[in-house]
Amino acid sequence: MSDHATLILDGVQHELPVLEGVEGERAIDIRELRERTGHITLDPGYGNTGSCLSAITFIDGEKGILRYRGIPIEQFADAPNFVEVAWLLIFGRLPTAEQYTSFAEDLTRYANLDEGMKHHFEGFPRSAPPMAILSAMINALSCFHPELIELDDDEQFRMAAARLISKIRTIAAYAYRHSVGRPYNYPDPHLRYVPNFLHMMFSQPFDQRVCDESVRDALNLVLILHADHEQNCSTSTVRMVGSSQANLFASCAAGVCALWGPLHGGANVAVLEMLEQIHQGNITPEEYVRLAKDRDSKIRLMGFGHRVYKNFDPRAQLLGGVAERLLSGLGRPDPLLDIARRLEEIALSDPYFVDRKLYPNVDFYSGIILRAIGIPTNMFTVMFAIGRLPGWIAHWWEQRQDAAARIARPRQIYTGSPQSDYVSMAQRI
Ligand code: CMC
Repeated sequence: MSDHATLILDGVQHELPVLEGVEGERAIDIRELRERTGHITLDPGYGNTGSCLSAITFIDGEKGILRYRGIPIEQFADAPNFVEVAWLLIFGRLPTAEQYTSFAEDLTRYANLDEGMKHHFEGFPRSAPPMAILSAMINALSCFHPELIELDDDEQFRMAAARLISKIRTIAAYAYRHSVGRPYNYPDPHLRYVPNFLHMMFSQPFDQRVCDESVRDALNLVLILHADHEQNCSTSTVRMVGSSQANLFASCAAGVCALWGPLHGGANVAVLEMLEQIHQGNITPEEYVRLAKDRDSKIRLMGFGHRVYKNFDPRAQLLGGVAERLLSGLGRPDPLLDIARRLEEIALSDPYFVDRKLYPNVDFYSGIILRAIGIPTNMFTVMFAIGRLPGWIAHWWEQRQDAAARIARPRQIYTGSPQSDYVSMAQRI
């Protein structure tokens, strides 16, 4: 195969290098295009633009493949351990027993928030969206840990990463407790990552929330399946902000904001609302699908479709199975699962969805699992953020270590007014 692409512009021939990734994906390297030709490329939504070289996650959207550092995500399903996967993504290989123990101990050690931070929660209205609180408080970590704004070496980075992964749980749980007017629960150093989060969310004085093994495993898997997805909107945002050398906390706070939107992480809330609308009898699944196909309705089948997957999203397949097992294990059947299965059945046999290669994505079943665990709907996207954080951190660090990294600064084609003169106010018509 050729290692050059030929571009002919205004009769002049230009040779552009072609790069190949380890899995055979190919790219035309246009880094020198403007300098050599005076032209830029135009790609709104970046569907054809590679923004970086990355060794973290591989996706083959045509085949429905997702691998973290080379390992297929299906292999994490048997004994799901989110902390182990976080380490893998950030540091590039599975932790040894010693590394794992030390990292887990750090997560326990750093789980408390500075007492000063607690007052900030009280300043938010009860009805404040938890994603807004999450983003604000992650950014506020820069105020409470100024020593971690500049990360000079690997050890400092490890401390900042551990703090963030640990504290995001505490922030999320406090945001929830504040919204329901309940006292904050301090993290319990005897509990592991997921049970500790559920304790901070749901324990009451004299009534500790005990985490069932099936719930622990389901939530670990939910977090793992959200942990990274290469250059998605929020991760690209983290890289974009980080490219200006903004600190880790500020960059991840921006990632939370990007994730919030309903076309990205916010879709898990929209899916639940859609399923509830159908359950309440406001609309049938058939009618919903009909509206989703109608461009004028502005309705989409939420939890369906993906920029990269043109086949089954492997995460949705795993989550569909987890939802079935968890609900039956807990003895808590949920009519929303039946509705989701019905929607999937209708859509997957409809030429509109088949022709456009629209399949259930990660958000389609995750909400049903979270609901079974007792997580309120307005916290769903926060759960996505807790899961995605190791991916954001891994990408931020990968970029920071890349000696060739430059500030992200796309160009544009200007479509505004041609040059015109300033007119003083008195002379304007
Ligand atoms: N329902 C109905 N039609 C759809 C849907 C859907 N969910 N998704 C895409 N389409 C149609 C779209 O109208 C377009 O049709 P046409 O070719 O006739 O104009 C075609 O499929 C291609 O869609 P697109 O919007 O150009 O695709 P995209 O790659 O820009 O958008 C997406 C991807 C995920 C934003 C989109 O599929 C969507 O809005 N899905 C619903 C929201 C959702 O579930 N988001 C979560 C994504 S996965 C997790 C994450 O990233 O956070």
